Amino acid sequence: MNDEDKLIKKILVALDGSVYSDKVAKYGGDLAQRYNAKITLIHVFEPPTLVMPVGGMETSMPAAEIELTNRIIEEINTKAKKFLNQYKKGLAKGLEVEIIVEKGNISNTILIFAEENNYDLIVVGSRGFGDIKRFFLGSVSDKVSKHAHCPVLIVR
Ligand SMILES: Nc1ncnc2c1ncn2[C@@H]1O[C@H](COP(=O)(O)OP(=O)(O)OP(=O)(O)O)[C@@H](O)[C@H]1O
Ligand SMILES: [Mg+2]
Repeated sequence: MNDEDKLIKKILVALDGSVYSDKVAKYGGDLAQRYNAKITLIHVFEPPTLVMPVGGMETSMPAAEIELTNRIIEEINTKAKKFLNQYKKGLAKGLEVEIIVEKGNISNTILIFAEENNYDLIVVGSRGFGDIKRFFLGSVSDKVSKHAHCPVLIVR
């Protein structure tokens, strides 16, 4: 089959670094190999929010606090890139793998990123780090599978 005719050309694999991520990356990698698809490993973090002083946004933030927040964001970014790189190393050689770290609301960021960049499949774990295991799906896998513009593979 011609690569152009394949339904899956770009795969977005969402990783939170929990025990579920190993299997999620494995399924994403396997499909990418079989479909000869490009694969992107994405991690999203919610930036730490500063406590706003009374008066709200118009009150200027102390420079030290802004600097601290930026430093924390930078540190999370670096750590996330490192762990995504570990997963990248675990994938088959020869795959075209991209690594993306984004900040924002987790599920919304994944949904928007997937749609704007024309992914054909999103791979998520059924659960992640959350410790309330009453439900089959976590909040991210639940929302992503409900609202994605493309098919979603939920790995359990
Ligand atoms: N920060 C994240 N970045 C990228 N993907 C994520 C992130 N958090 C979750 N995911 C994806 O969603 C899957 C399910 O995680 P989810 O967060 O929905 O479950 P949970 O942590 O068990 O529950 P909750 O977070 O709602 O308490 C993960 O295996 C991963 O594929
Ligand atoms: Mg979670």
